Amino acid sequence: MRLGVNIDHVATVREARQISEPDPVAAAVLVDLAGAYGIVCHLREDRRHIKDRDVYFLREIVKSHLNLEMAATEEMVKIAIDLKPDMVTLVPEKREEVTTEGGLEVAGKIEHIRETVSNLKKHRIVTSLFIEPDIKQIKASARVQADYVELHTGRYANCQTARAKRDELDRIQAGALAAAKLGLGVSAGHGLNYHNVQEIVKIREIEELNIGHSIIGRAIFTGLQQAVREMVELIK
Ligand code: PXP
Repeated sequence: MRLGVNIDHVATVREARQISEPDPVAAAVLVDLAGAYGIVCHLREDRRHIKDRDVYFLREIVKSHLNLEMAATEEMVKIAIDLKPDMVTLVPEKREEVTTEGGLEVAGKIEHIRETVSNLKKHRIVTSLFIEPDIKQIKASARVQADYVELHTGRYANCQTARAKRDELDRIQAGALAAAKLGLGVSAGHGLNYHNVQEIVKIREIEELNIGHSIIGRAIFTGLQQAVREMVELIK
């Protein structure tokens, strides 16, 4: 199972101060050194965390695998074609949302998504669609000739009861199997953390997980003592 680490959350901390630190590009170097398969970042239309400058620097330094999440808009496709990430993941985007809510509507927008996928693939960019583990969306993803689907695990992560969790896991498992049978590569992500990832890892068809918030959140705690020690030393 490959791990892509989403570094948007480092940029979110930077943007809270609107200065140059902490730099998500520096974070990518550490993520790479720690053995992750790749770096994931989302260039949102409103540029609320990751900026254009970040993705271009990331492209320079990420030699492993750079997965650019973006909306299926003309502006973003132009940037992707210029940037040449290893993979583009098309995601739905709403200005008012805090994070990506729900999966991409592929079945209802076949022509638009097909054209976007084809345009990206023409430029040798592997293309993934971030969708709900829903058979209609999976079949539509195969119809538009996407290379991968990333199954949205947000609903699973938010389940409050063991029963609901089991049902959602079954849905993800069935979705992964259906996608693989249709020849699609399968990844998964959103809301995965140190407590809920184990069940997802058991799904054999899933090749890759993209995880951000829980890893960056944990890094605050695993790194906080060292950071305080360094400042205490400095001001002694
Ligand atoms: N995959 C996709 C397509 C996403 O949009 C996100 C969130 O940016 C993630 C994975 C990672 O989600 P989380 O930060 O909850 O781990």
